[in-house]
Amino acid sequence: MPSERVKAVLDRLGVAAADEGGGEPLESVDPSTGRIQGRIHAVTRVQYDARVAAALRRFEEWRMRPAPKRGEVIRRLGELLRAHKEPLGELVSLETGKIRAEGAGEVQEMIDICDFAVGLSRQLHGLTIASERPRHRLTEQWHPLGAVGIVTAFNFPVAVWAWNAALGAVCGDVCLWKPSPLTPLSSAAVQGLCETVAAEHGAEGVFTLLPGGSEAGGWLSDDPRLPLVSFTGSIAAGRTVAARVAARLGRTILELGGNNGVIVLDDADLDLAVRAITFGAVGTAGQRCTSTRRLFVQRGVARSAIDRLVSAYRTVRIGDPLEDGVLMGPLITRAAVDRYRAALAAAREQGGKVVCGGRVLERPGNFVEPAVVLAPRHDAFPIAWEETFAPILYVFEVADLDEALRAHNAVPQGLSSAIFTDSIRSAELFLSPAGSDCGIANVNAGTSGAEIGGAFGGEKETGGGRESGSDAWKGYMRRQTSTLNWGRDLPLAQGIAFGPGGRG
Ligand code: UN1
Repeated sequence: MPSERVKAVLDRLGVAAADEGGGEPLESVDPSTGRIQGRIHAVTRVQYDARVAAALRRFEEWRMRPAPKRGEVIRRLGELLRAHKEPLGELVSLETGKIRAEGAGEVQEMIDICDFAVGLSRQLHGLTIASERPRHRLTEQWHPLGAVGIVTAFNFPVAVWAWNAALGAVCGDVCLWKPSPLTPLSSAAVQGLCETVAAEHGAEGVFTLLPGGSEAGGWLSDDPRLPLVSFTGSIAAGRTVAARVAARLGRTILELGGNNGVIVLDDADLDLAVRAITFGAVGTAGQRCTSTRRLFVQRGVARSAIDRLVSAYRTVRIGDPLEDGVLMGPLITRAAVDRYRAALAAAREQGGKVVCGGRVLERPGNFVEPAVVLAPRHDAFPIAWEETFAPILYVFEVADLDEALRAHNAVPQGLSSAIFTDSIRSAELFLSPAGSDCGIANVNAGTSGAEIGGAFGGEKETGGGRESGSDAWKGYMRRQTSTLNWGRDLPLAQGIAFGPGGRG
């Protein structure tokens, strides 16, 4: 039985969090109270196979539907999301612990990518290339890829699915979604909306939910019927997925951990910097892959930047994520609280000084205080080289931009980065090939909260994948190069003469 709160939200959404599968129960635990607030069931292996087979049957038809017609399905999904933004956002908040504004923001991100995908459905363009042969045309076109596996994480339980599924669907793919087992209700609610849209448009099987844990994720990784698996999650899990999909020569889009740094130079607008760092480090309780985790501040402004940051942190209200005025909700699980504690213990041991926050709150739920840690030299502080999914910010004082960049780029992850400066030279150096090595590099804007229009993803152990805007759609299609000969001769490329009648 869902809790009263969850039931009320599901009623407003007009969907039942149906007993999805016949496998083990996947419980939704309210991170603010520790109480079970609902459950669905995982799919069994037999159900998994049947759902993939049904999706592939739909693919036979879907791939031949004109892309702008596929776009109409996504337009309708976007309309339903607009109409249900508030309750769906609330459900996301109830499951993840993110505050109301961020839950709603996540649904807005889904709406935005639907809009983008509708436009894209009339823009899936190829190239015409000059052929070296007379009366020949050389072209490239893009075709649907097939059944795409989408594995998402708890922290963006629905938006990251939408980045992949909205693009995949207009590209002519069918989308098989294995959501996080920590957020089963949000995924079931979105699936409910998808089913309404699919029934209206004869598109059943375009969107398929496959609730389950890591075992179901493994089925997707190993399944040769899925040419692409798009995976969002930890670096450790991503390594396994990458290896398993590669073993069958499938493709992956990997969006793994970040360890995002902000550089604040002496000439920065500190007001902007402090606001952006606070949102980046404290927002979503530090559980975004784009969360700000490392701060490199130039000596001349270090004192005042840290003082202002600590004052800003003191104003952050922690509590029930749906309450007005609360800026930070709980961490997702008790295990996440343990990791927060362990990281702070390691930080202290390695010479770090916690100057703000750092306590686990004595109340039900997984509440912690956001922490600021003054760290010694970056290379002597290994805890800052790891991603801890919690609101902990490590602060390093640096002499200049060179030192900041060296430390910034030293870590194995490469997702998001930012610099605060009023110097065009420093900003351009940061954006140059010798600057930030991340997939996202911002100037006078923080590390988190990217818009959907740009390609999203990162380098190094972040996995190299790109999702969302720009030309990320190409990852969901297969490219076909065609030579078309409209002459009466058969000239060969590279001027090869072959056999009688062949011309050199
Ligand atoms: C994630 O944390 O997996 O840029 C995605 C951001 C959001 C998406 C984060 N638009 O912070």
